[in-house]
Amino acid sequence: MKILMASSEAVPFAKTGGLADAVSALSLALAKLGHEIKVVLPRYYSINRAELTKLPGEMGVPVSGGEAWSAVYTAELPGSAKKNPVEVYFIDHEGFFGRDGIYGVPGEPDFLDNPRRFAFFCRGVFQVCRKIGWTPDVFHAHDWPAALVPVFLKYGERPRDFPQAVSALTIHNLGYQGVYSKENFYHTNLGWDVFYSAGFEDWNMMNMLKAGLYTADKLNTVSPNYARETQTQAHGFRLDGVLRYRSGDYTGILNGIDTDLWNPQKDPYIPEPYSAKDLSGKAKAKTALQEWFGLPVKPDVPVIGMVTRLVEQKGVGEVFGPAYGSAWSICNDMDVQLVLLGSGEPWCENEIKSLSYRLANFKAHIGYSEKESHLIEAGSDFFLMPSRYEPCGLNQMYSLVYGTLPIVRNTGGLADTVQNFNEKTGKGTGFMFDDLTPSAIYNTVGWANATYHNRRKDLETMRVAGMKQNFSWKKSAELYVDLYEAARTVSSEDRNPDDARR
Ligand code: ADP
Ligand code: GLC
Repeated sequence: MKILMASSEAVPFAKTGGLADAVSALSLALAKLGHEIKVVLPRYYSINRAELTKLPGEMGVPVSGGEAWSAVYTAELPGSAKKNPVEVYFIDHEGFFGRDGIYGVPGEPDFLDNPRRFAFFCRGVFQVCRKIGWTPDVFHAHDWPAALVPVFLKYGERPRDFPQAVSALTIHNLGYQGVYSKENFYHTNLGWDVFYSAGFEDWNMMNMLKAGLYTADKLNTVSPNYARETQTQAHGFRLDGVLRYRSGDYTGILNGIDTDLWNPQKDPYIPEPYSAKDLSGKAKAKTALQEWFGLPVKPDVPVIGMVTRLVEQKGVGEVFGPAYGSAWSICNDMDVQLVLLGSGEPWCENEIKSLSYRLANFKAHIGYSEKESHLIEAGSDFFLMPSRYEPCGLNQMYSLVYGTLPIVRNTGGLADTVQNFNEKTGKGTGFMFDDLTPSAIYNTVGWANATYHNRRKDLETMRVAGMKQNFSWKKSAELYVDLYEAARTVSSEDRNPDDARR
């Protein structure tokens, strides 16, 4: 199959979170299965043009009642096989993307012109296909910034030039939907009838993700449990009704992890490789981690690691919230060391800095660092991830394969990937709690700590069980192929009841 991935992020070019990892890894895994994959991204300011190849000429993109002129660059996705490389195409427009930030910058987290920028990007995806003379079988869009791709396909592009093409839309995070004033609808160049029939309308606003969810031939999210949760009012972010309505076309496919990058047997960022058979390298990583953070080197004190965006989704309020967060009492009452790497909301960054001055056994680095994130995964005994909601989550899977036991909330993809420790059988791969409260976090960390000291054998068995899990992308990529096939079997008449009229 010829598959086009439309995304606002893909490693190593642009990343704010797991979306970037997932898009690139899925693309490489599909190429390995023999499919022809091209990824389309915006050319953000941070992506150096000098490292890309420019296609000759310019490209016109019909948006905002006129035409925006852009350039197209290309590069091979790193990690591609020589035989069937994944090509990445970058849409370059100085006005829309020649600035710092992907969606925004500190102080302006959501650029005012985002609906215009991403409407342009989504329309540009089709122009890239025309420019390179390539007709995909599947347009696969990711999250709200690319959600207009299925909409444009159905309302205009399919009848014009892509009669056989189908679309899939993946929800990586339902909390971000691209909701803007409906004045912005003008930028799509679509007629106002489509505003209603394609599902843009949202309490008199325009919702870009909702339109994609109405229109795409197939939908999925990144874990089976999150697919179920998002169809309930508690987790549906007001779109649970839409997802229930589309439930026949909506599934959950668990993300994999990049096992070349995240593998304790060949990780260049840790002092010594290790495996389930010989964990001595893990002890060395623990020492290196304690030294790196300036903590006393104590092999018998459990280290709890965190690597996270510091945002509400990740449950950081319940850990670091002033006066009520659990970090203070965990670090005071228990003989543990807590280390964190992360960045995000200013209140949380400040609180973490303040706590790390006041607590001898809590150290944090505010910022972003690949190397440190690998060292934390390898050197910690436990990994804390108390997410409010978690579509999939990658870090708990990294933890498992590094023999680091996750302490997680029983939600979303965390529930699909971690098995709670059963004291009777001694089985499990981590520690779970249901309620997102500081006391539940405190109690569960206490439970993990007690297991570390009193049931060492069970703990080692759990580590090994985690390390043996297979989170490779191959399995997930095959499920995506099934999803594409299912979209393609829908007869073109069923698919386009409206197209003929447009
Ligand atoms: P989300 O995408 O919601 O942030 P995921 O668990 O899916 O959550 O993915 C997060 C990704 O971002 C992981 O690859 C994680 O290692 C990485 N990450 C997050 N914060 C940092 C940081 N401060 N430094 C390095 N890597 C980070
Ligand atoms: C989102 C989700 C995260 C998921 C990632 C990749 O950022 O928050 O849970 O793992 O996308 O799909």
